Amino acid sequence: MQMRPKYKVKFIGHMLYKKEILSENLTCNVMPLTIVLLCLSIPFQVQAQVELNKESQVSLSEKIIDSDDLIYRNLENLGGKHTIKARDKRSLSHAYDNLSDEEIDKFILGKSFFNIPWVEAPSATTARDGLGPLFNANTCLSCHSGNGAGFSLDQDGHINRSLVFRLSKQESQLDPQLKKIVTTQGFIADPVYGAQININGVHGVLFEGTPKVSYSTQTIQYADGQSIQLQMPKFSLINLNYGPLDKSTVISPRVALSLVGLGEIEKISEQDILANEDVEDRNNDGISGKANRVYSLEKKKSVLGRFSWKASAPTVKQQVASALHNDMSLTTPLINNENCTKFQHDCLEAQGSQSLEVPMKRLEAISYYISHLKVPAQRKTHSNRQGFKLFKKTGCSSCHKSSFVTSENNRIYPFSDFLLHDMGEALSDQRNEFLAQPREWRTPPLWGIGLAETLSNNVSYLHDGRARSIEEAILWHGGEAESITQKFKQLTKSERQSLIQFIRSI
Ligand code: HEC
Ligand code: HEC
Repeated sequence: MQMRPKYKVKFIGHMLYKKEILSENLTCNVMPLTIVLLCLSIPFQVQAQVELNKESQVSLSEKIIDSDDLIYRNLENLGGKHTIKARDKRSLSHAYDNLSDEEIDKFILGKSFFNIPWVEAPSATTARDGLGPLFNANTCLSCHSGNGAGFSLDQDGHINRSLVFRLSKQESQLDPQLKKIVTTQGFIADPVYGAQININGVHGVLFEGTPKVSYSTQTIQYADGQSIQLQMPKFSLINLNYGPLDKSTVISPRVALSLVGLGEIEKISEQDILANEDVEDRNNDGISGKANRVYSLEKKKSVLGRFSWKASAPTVKQQVASALHNDMSLTTPLINNENCTKFQHDCLEAQGSQSLEVPMKRLEAISYYISHLKVPAQRKTHSNRQGFKLFKKTGCSSCHKSSFVTSENNRIYPFSDFLLHDMGEALSDQRNEFLAQPREWRTPPLWGIGLAETLSNNVSYLHDGRARSIEEAILWHGGEAESITQKFKQLTKSERQSLIQFIRSI
C-alpha cells in the first residue's frame, strides 16, 4: 500500500466525568482536516496539535481503532459515576451512593414491593394483596431474577414464565381506521384474551392458556470452515380456556429484559438519541435507525419510546405500571382497570377492591428502586481489549453505540442507540407496536449482559430467547445488520472468540 505522510496528533483533554488530565499521542497518515474530525469524534474535550512525521508506517484504520483505546480504558466505568466493581450474584442490586435518608427509605420501600410476592385478595396483608384475577407471576423477581434478564427454557425444556406472549391483531389485516389507532395506541389487543396470555388465575378463575414451542435447526457455516447450529422457534398456545384466538391475532414472544442502568438511560436527552436517527439511510451505511413514538399515559401525548424490546415504553414508571397490569393484574393510577376482557366473566366477578392496588407512592417507589441500581464494571483482560477492537471494526457499534453523556453529565456506556432497526424476516414477530414494524427491534443495551450467566443458571438471548449463546445471538442478526453478520462470519475462530469474550466482559 502506498503510504502518505503521517501526522502526529496530540490529544490533551479532561475526561468529562473525572477531573483528570489525559494526554495521548496518536499518529495518522491522513490530512489534518480529517484528523481534526477524528479528534472531535472522541469523547473528550480535545485540543489537537498536529505535526508532520514522515517515518511512521501505520495505516489509518488501525489508528482509528487506536482512538477507541481511550474509550476502552473507560469501560471500567460502564455506568460512569454509578458503577460497582463487584461482578457477582448481587451485582445488579446495589443502590447509588450518596442517597439522602429519605431517598434510601424510598429505595427500600420500592425494593420490598419488587421482591416480596403479591397475594390474592382478601388476605391478612392488605398492603400486598390484589394479585390477579389473571396473572403470569406473583413478584417482579420471578421474571427478573437478581434484577437481571429472564430466559426462555428451563433445564427440562419447559418454557419459563419470564417469556411472555403478547397478543395483537395483525396490522396488515386491519382496516385503515384501525391501522391509524395502532400508531397512536400501540396495538389492537385480542378481543377475548386481551394484550397478553396469562398462564395463571386466582382461585375460581381459569388461566388463559399454555405456551408451547418446537424448534427447527439450521446450520451456519463460517469462512474458516467451522459450523454452528441455530434453532428457529415456532411458538403456539394450547389449553386455551376461553375459546380460540381471534383469526387475525398474532403471538409476540418477549423474554424479560435486564434492569441495568435504567435511571441513566432515562437521563439521556431526547436530542442525543434522535441524533443517531437516519430513517432514510441518508449516509448510505446500510444502517437506518428509527425512533419509536409512543403514547405517554402521564403526559397524554405521543413521546419518544426508549424501554422494552420495541421501545414502546417512554419511562421506567410507565413500564412498571404495564408490568403490574399485564403480568400481575395490579391496578395503578396509570392503568386503573383489571386485566380482564368483557368475555371473561369469572375474571370480572373476581375483581378485588375498587381502590387502587398500587397507589402512586408505591408505583414511584418501585420505579425509583430500579432506577437507582449501580451498573457493574467491565471485567478487563488483554483479550477483551482485542475483542473490543473487533466489535468496533466489524461494525457492531453502528447500532450498539458505546457511549452517551446524561443530563447530569455522567458518561455511560450502554452499548445501544435506543432506536429501532430492521433485523430481517427470521426475527419478525408479525406485530406492529406504535411505529415499530414486525421486523423492527430496539437495539438492546449490552451493559451487564456478561452477568447473565452469574445471575441465573439458565440464559437466553434475543427478544424470544431463541439464542442459547452470544454467538448464536450475533448470527441471527439479519436485515440492516446482515452485512455486519457476514463480516463476523469472515473472522477467524480466535477473533470470533475474543469478540464474544469482550461482550461477556461487559
Ligand atoms: C411475567 C414476567 C415478568 C414479570 C412478573 C415482570 N416483568 Fe418486567 N419484563 C418482562 C418482559 C417480558 C419484559 C420485556 C417487555 C417487552 O419488551 O415488551 C420486561 C421488561 C421490563 C422493563 C423494561 C426494561 C428495559 O430495558 O426496557 C422494566 C423496567 C421492567 N420489566 C420492570 C418490571 C417490574 C418493576 C416488575 C414488577 C412490578 C416486572 N418488570 C415484572 C417480564 C416480566
Ligand atoms: C442494525 C443494528 C445492529 C447491529 C449492526 C448489531 N446489532 Fe446486535 N442487536 C440489534 C438488535 C435490534 C437486537 C435485538 C434483536 C432481537 O431481539 O430480535 C440485537 C441483539 C444483540 C444481542 C443480544 C442481546 C440480548 O440482550 O439478548 C447481542 C449479544 C448483540 N446484538 C451483539 C451484537 C454484535 C456482537 C454485533 C456485531 C457483530 C451486533 N450486535 C450488531 C441491533 C444490531
